[in-house]
Amino acid sequence: MSAVDELKAEHALIRTMMGVFSRMCDLMESGEAVDTEHLDQMLDFIVVFVDKCHHRKEEEVFFPRVVALGLREPAVIDAFVYQHDLFKEYISELRADVREKGKGGDWPRHRFIEVARDYISQLTEHSEAEENELFAIAGPSISADENDNLADEFERLEREEVGAGEHEMYRELASRLTGMFPPRGARDVKET
Ligand SMILES: [Fe+2]
Ligand SMILES: [Fe+2]
Repeated sequence: MSAVDELKAEHALIRTMMGVFSRMCDLMESGEAVDTEHLDQMLDFIVVFVDKCHHRKEEEVFFPRVVALGLREPAVIDAFVYQHDLFKEYISELRADVREKGKGGDWPRHRFIEVARDYISQLTEHSEAEENELFAIAGPSISADENDNLADEFERLEREEVGAGEHEMYRELASRLTGMFPPRGARDVKET
């Protein structure tokens, strides 16, 4: 799989999980309970797979290559990195609320749902913009050798950030949570 295709496949998994997260929000909004354990699993996916793994691959490997090849101006890339930083702020708010929920008392459910929905829509738009503005140009412009180098770098980061085999664990988690909280128009995650 080419490096760009690998990022695209990760986007597909991330969007599936955002569909699951959205479904969790719908249930909580209509007064149904969602286990803290499942919200923790969702946040773990967001922290490790999305933030530590996917965003680092983009920031440390893919984006610099796009700039080095002259495919995009640095300002365009800076805007995407800035959004990654904003996502970290959403994550700390979401984590703090789930920690409160875990204590068993009152927790700011409505605020959590509002922040989660905002995060879901911003991250979805962000990934679509990357595909349209970066992947579409980089895909055909990166040579086979270059692709191999990028893929090696991705593999190294993955080993460092999530550990060998963990990627597959997140894929299985997505499959399990999709079964429990089917997103509207969900596709089988195995397709990705
Ligand atoms: Fe990104
Ligand atoms: Fe991305």
